[in-house]
Amino acid sequence: MSWKKKLFIPGPVDVEEEVLLESAKPLINHRGEEFHELFEDVKRKVKEVLSTKNEVVVLTASGTGAVEALAANFAPGRRALVVNAGEFGSRFAEALRVYGAEVVEVSAELGSAPDLETVVARMDAFKPDVVAFVYNDTSPGVRLSYAQELCREAKARGALVLVDAVSAVGGDELHVDAWGIDALAGASQKCLEAPPGLSFVVLSEEAREKLSKEAKSVYFDLRRYLEYSARSETPFTPAVTLLYAFRRALERILAFGVQKWVSMHAERAAALYRAFEALNLTPFVREEFRSRTVLSFTTPAGVSAVELRRSLSGKFGIEITGGLGKLRERIVRVGLMGYVPLRDLVALVAATGLVLKERGVRVDLERALDEVYKLTARL
Ligand SMILES: Cc1ncc(COP(=O)(O)O)c(C=O)c1O
Repeated sequence: MSWKKKLFIPGPVDVEEEVLLESAKPLINHRGEEFHELFEDVKRKVKEVLSTKNEVVVLTASGTGAVEALAANFAPGRRALVVNAGEFGSRFAEALRVYGAEVVEVSAELGSAPDLETVVARMDAFKPDVVAFVYNDTSPGVRLSYAQELCREAKARGALVLVDAVSAVGGDELHVDAWGIDALAGASQKCLEAPPGLSFVVLSEEAREKLSKEAKSVYFDLRRYLEYSARSETPFTPAVTLLYAFRRALERILAFGVQKWVSMHAERAAALYRAFEALNLTPFVREEFRSRTVLSFTTPAGVSAVELRRSLSGKFGIEITGGLGKLRERIVRVGLMGYVPLRDLVALVAATGLVLKERGVRVDLERALDEVYKLTARL
């Protein structure tokens, strides 16, 4: 017999039935009036959730597609500085190289991010045309807390700012226009709580002017998308049914209140860090760079990250995940994206505490549960 598991992975997330059911709607002509309305509505709602006046291009592709679109359209022949705080930073750098940029990476040890001063000094030395970073690197759970200042420094030096915000949009403070982000990549399946398969890029006026005339991609040629978007269409067949679902997911966030949705992520993450510390799990990331949407921990001596993960899945049907790349065996990661009922948070904390206790770890389960229970007063 199969049973539904609870997803606490860093996306995709559990999606409400009313959103899932939208994608069971009959298909429509993607060159017809009904589609035009749907597509305009989705673009409008993405803009509203992100409170941006910039252009939104919706892609039928996962988040990697949106990041690749940034690379394909802004890399050719340019100098790019990438702030690298994890696996997704490395991928961004790789994509920019593949599409012809000369890339310099500024990195730090895993679980941290380079200092802003170091990044600025490298900018002054390298004089990049493009500064690229991942706002929330999902692989170690590192949040670039100085993102706003970094954007300001890059803009002051005339660089285009490209941001992979795939695991942050909807789940963290993000002010595309005010911060001066020229091109941003986001996706449907994380903090926006929709099914996977759609992503989007948000382009400032300057970015639109500076789109490479020699985009090295057919599918991700953003000029072409902008031309079609002006008449409410996409150059290639869009995932129509996913657009229905995405629209409903965005509607739910707007009804909930965007700022409230974002603060919910922050408060809940803070509570879970405290709860897990009471269970003797240690946050992997330095406090100032800790993510609000994907939380990473090292396990206490005697319990491996793999063991903890397997027990939660096998005994409780709770899915958390391990590290990526070099961190695979070292950390567990818990995705806290989208709305998570208190019932599920309590189950996560209780189950984790019970598994650790069974392995002989000293846990303060009562305090841990209290940390998440206290949230109800605010959420
Ligand atoms: C920061 C970041 N960028 C890019 C991606 C790639 O997104 P996708 O898996 O949707 O292609 C992810 C996925 O986890 C991510 O967290």
